[in-house]
Amino acid sequence: MNFASSLHIQNAQILLPNGEFLKGEVLVQSGKIVEVAPQVSPNDSAVVIDADGSTLLPGVIDPQVHFREPGLEHKEDLFTASCACARGGVTSFLEMPNTRPLTITQEALDDKLQRAASKCVVNYGFFIGATAENLPDLRTANPACGIKIFMGSNHGALLVEQEDVLDKIFYRDVNDPHAENRLIAVHAEDQERIRQRRKLFAGNSNPAVHSEIQDNQAALQATQLALKLSKRYQRNLHILHMSTAEEADLLRQDKPAWVTAEVTPQHLLLSTQAYETLGTLAQMNPPLRSPHDAEVLWQALLDGVIDFIATDHAPHTLEEKAEPYPKSPSGMPGVETSLPLMLTEAMKGRCTVAQVSNWMSTAVAKRYGIPNKGAIAPGYDADLVLVDLKTYRPVLREELLTKCGWSPFEGWNLTGNPVVTIVGGQVVYDHGKVDTSVRGQALQFVI
Ligand code: DOR
Repeated sequence: MNFASSLHIQNAQILLPNGEFLKGEVLVQSGKIVEVAPQVSPNDSAVVIDADGSTLLPGVIDPQVHFREPGLEHKEDLFTASCACARGGVTSFLEMPNTRPLTITQEALDDKLQRAASKCVVNYGFFIGATAENLPDLRTANPACGIKIFMGSNHGALLVEQEDVLDKIFYRDVNDPHAENRLIAVHAEDQERIRQRRKLFAGNSNPAVHSEIQDNQAALQATQLALKLSKRYQRNLHILHMSTAEEADLLRQDKPAWVTAEVTPQHLLLSTQAYETLGTLAQMNPPLRSPHDAEVLWQALLDGVIDFIATDHAPHTLEEKAEPYPKSPSGMPGVETSLPLMLTEAMKGRCTVAQVSNWMSTAVAKRYGIPNKGAIAPGYDADLVLVDLKTYRPVLREELLTKCGWSPFEGWNLTGNPVVTIVGGQVVYDHGKVDTSVRGQALQFVI
């Protein structure tokens, strides 16, 4: 790795691990934070970054993205996606296995890791995908941040919907203190219910019916089943992109210590009303819900029922999205807008900047056991983002770096835009420009 120099960040509002802000300086050496103080020790060889009063946060760790490489590179690839991450203040990502080939073997995982090492400008980690047949790979794949199960909303080998098959994946001997407990992350939608409801809406090409077909009940049933299995074996379970009031209420009543959940900014900030303006661009899985659902999800996030935020960055080209529903694919990009969207909410008073940073970095690092990330403190990796909380700018299509080239949030006037992003002590994004020579590192997972 190329740590060309030390960094001396001056004149920043630094978010400390206790949630307070320090007006001061950070010294970075060999990719690590070595000092955080009102004035750090003088270091003549360090490159100075004058933050000019901007706010310094731990880099965002996005725990659910689909970056399409290998196999679907016409939508996105690891290079373009990681540049989009740098622009969005995302310094690490955890990527999903629905690429081509599927990431369901050690070989496929190794291939992704190699690709990422050669082209990613931010840090990377990958899920291993569960099928009905790859139990041995699920136990041994390394390094993997967790096991991804599509309980619904997928087809082919990655769809695992039968309870007896799911039971085998969740199984562990609860009497053995050393029994393997690798985290299982579920896309919780009940495929059988979706199948039935598709028949009810057959021939209807209004994208709004997507939320009717894959309804709240479909999500709730799958979450209930995942929760039941995880309780049977005290298995580490994470509910991906939780989308309904019913699921939030369920977890509020019954959330074992080994269960966590995440929510996306789009499920917090958009609703089914978005179909009117965005059409199929608003189509995703699990679908957008009612304003009431969004309200309940917000409260669950504020109360700690939902633990953190992921974008589910799932790019498709505009041409693909222009297909009439239901041929149009589900998914929307997110890594470039997630941090400003959430910080704009913080500036509105809906939450605090410290909470946003916890949900988008600290809590994620903790859950996935990513060492030395998610805080600005000596000894931590220098994955940092400087954000401007004074200026508001609209999301503009022409500025986006994601290969798909669109965002559901175009035109939204946001603050908290990243001005400088730092990965392992290297400046990867600086006032609109990505340094494409920077390379991230493979993340480690210790749980
Ligand atoms: O809308 C979605 N699209 N949700 C997912 O979970 C998968 C994704 C994709 O890969 O396109």
